[in-house]
Amino acid sequence: MVNALNYAEMRALARRRLPRGLFEYIDRGTEDEVALAAVREAWDRLKLAPAVLVDVSERRMDTVLFGRRLGFPAVIAPTALAGLVWHDGEAALARAAARADIPFCVSTQSVTPIEHIARSGARLWFQLYVWRDRQLMLRLLERARDAGAEALILTVDTAVGPNREYNVRNGFGMPIQPSLRAAIDVLSRPRWLAGVLLRQLLADGVPTYAHYPPEFRTRVTRPAIADAVRLDDRVSWRDVAELRRSWRGPFLLKGILRVDDARRALEAGIDGIVVSSHGGRNLDSAPPAIEALPAIVDAVGDRMTVLVDGGVRRGSHIAKALALGAKAVLVGRATLYGTAFGGEAGAGRMLDLLRDELGRTMGLIGRPTVASIGPDSLVPHR
Ligand SMILES: Cc1cc2nc3c(=O)[nH]c(=O)nc-3n(C[C@H](O)[C@H](O)[C@H](O)COP(=O)(O)O)c2cc1C
Repeated sequence: MVNALNYAEMRALARRRLPRGLFEYIDRGTEDEVALAAVREAWDRLKLAPAVLVDVSERRMDTVLFGRRLGFPAVIAPTALAGLVWHDGEAALARAAARADIPFCVSTQSVTPIEHIARSGARLWFQLYVWRDRQLMLRLLERARDAGAEALILTVDTAVGPNREYNVRNGFGMPIQPSLRAAIDVLSRPRWLAGVLLRQLLADGVPTYAHYPPEFRTRVTRPAIADAVRLDDRVSWRDVAELRRSWRGPFLLKGILRVDDARRALEAGIDGIVVSSHGGRNLDSAPPAIEALPAIVDAVGDRMTVLVDGGVRRGSHIAKALALGAKAVLVGRATLYGTAFGGEAGAGRMLDLLRDELGRTMGLIGRPTVASIGPDSLVPHR
């Protein structure tokens, strides 16, 4: 039974369950964590303007995205290594998403292969990082398509690896490299050790990025393989054009923060963008996505689907994102913490909380449907 009442409680429960190295990998930002702090402040600065004396007896949180109905305007964000927080964590997340009637976006760097996650029956999206070896990458894309992925998200904000010093300090990385420090950390979390790590070791061996070639699994990684699946720092709009040609379904770019890039995405025939600072995890001087959103919506919002993510902790955040013109939000850490504490039930609980909070907020601002939330639902900036 997962009885957390909100995100903060869920995070606290997850913190007690996970080894420190893993918790910090999920929770923290990059460098001085300025971006992370700014995200929270940005949400708090936005104020909703309640319209009163409106009949809100029938509140409807469902919406439509790329022609398909969603239970409420959210998608579970792609997060690497979600399968480390719970045994079969990605499948648990996918099942929770299916119950909430929203899509789950599988990461290139998930611990569980997409074919296995697809058995959950969830609507899947697939997130792609461009590997140096394009043939290997295209084969992965084929796998995603064959497994039924509806939409493709290309993440474009990770041209080089971010500077996450706590991971270095904690000895946390992929492939897993055994260390005394990590061993002590893991031993202090026996439930996670038995319930996740040992089960994973017995079932599939050392946990790793499931979509990577098998040679990547161990520390004795062959340099050639490591190089082939290195995230390419030469990715350009030419790759976007090629991918556009090879992917038939909805195609989104994630990690857009500039109006000119959004316009360029539109010209490249992209269906949608995720305005995102990667949850404050990559560029520490990045603006909060929610602050970059209005200008981007102004420029392209009537011609492509604009989503936003970063720091969604409350249903009121979803209402604010909708008021600023986003069609839906992506949720990363919140559902990861739910999964870390309670697997499918925990992720489901987190989604229920967010949806119910959204419904309550809609009632309090006099906007009974998703479509009725607009710019006038916000107090104008002075
Ligand atoms: C642990 C973790 C792993 C992530 N891995 C990926 C990834 O593999 N690909 C990607 O595009 N984004 C990744 N992200 C970013 C999320 O997709 C999303 O942009 C971000 O988490 C949103 O912020 P939130 O966690 O505050 O909701 C990751 C985020 C976290 C927390």
